[in-house]
Amino acid sequence: MEVIQPTLFDFHGVSMSNYFVKNWDEVQNFKARPDDILIATYPKTGTTWVCYMLDLLYFGQTCPERQTSIPLDDRVPFLEYAKPSLQTGKDLADRLPTTPRLIKTHLPLQFVPKSFWEQNVRIVNVFRNAKDTAVSYYHFCRMSKSMPDPGDWSTFLQNFMEGKVVYGSWHDHVNGWWEKKETYPKIHPMFYEDLIQDTGREIDKLCSFLGLSRSDEEKERVMEAVHFDNMKKDEMANPKTPAMDFKISPFMRKGKVGDWKNHFSVAQSEQFDEDYKKKMTDVTLQFRTEI
Ligand code: PPS
Repeated sequence: MEVIQPTLFDFHGVSMSNYFVKNWDEVQNFKARPDDILIATYPKTGTTWVCYMLDLLYFGQTCPERQTSIPLDDRVPFLEYAKPSLQTGKDLADRLPTTPRLIKTHLPLQFVPKSFWEQNVRIVNVFRNAKDTAVSYYHFCRMSKSMPDPGDWSTFLQNFMEGKVVYGSWHDHVNGWWEKKETYPKIHPMFYEDLIQDTGREIDKLCSFLGLSRSDEEKERVMEAVHFDNMKKDEMANPKTPAMDFKISPFMRKGKVGDWKNHFSVAQSEQFDEDYKKKMTDVTLQFRTEI
């Protein structure tokens, strides 16, 4: 089936496109359960990585067959995703047979269905430095017909800075979620750069947030499975859809910190940093653009 490339529009003050707001009322009325786990991220920040990690930590031992028979996208539904001819993310989440249910969203804080707050659901945020996120997002938009046409790199970068990309401003999204953890203790923030630097340590922290005790051997197994090279080869971890053209760019593209240096000119980097300073004023939130 031919995929119609969507356009961007303003949705309650945030740039969005059709597939992510089409099912709005249903999504807003989603009934979260107290033992759900929500993985909430801005796109291209390590969502798939952490979803896979969580799935393995919970079900890797009890249901190892999941790993070879169920695509990750079905194990961890994308709540707001609603594409014609596919089951909606909301329906997939409703029908998840697991406890806990692992659910992924890219929604900015203000769009999160209220039942998640009412049920006091545990939330894992994944953050990634803005420059690498922009680069990863650019390549994703080039290869996915589910996203608006990004244009060339400098056009995309300008739009990214202005929040004219799907899910809006990275700065607003990140600031919103970061502030929320001051008043909602059941949020565990993770950073892509920390995951790259020491995956084992981050798995330990994640387990302690979730109250999971896993043997060293089990954690080693998870660490091995979620290594970039292994996830890249894992058919179940890579989304398969005719909307994506892997000849243009793979989904698991580079998996590195600092690839932005191969894309930003000096002038672009300086302009980005100037703009960044104005928008990211909370000193408690620091990103690393290299490690
Ligand atoms: S999405 O489509 O928004 O859900 O994308 P998301 O999963 O958030 O981010 C995709 C980027 O994460 C990289 N990735 C990884 N890096 C290191 N290790 C592992 N295991 C891993 N899995 C995914 C992926 O390659 C994308 O980053 P880039 O920079 O494009 O390579």
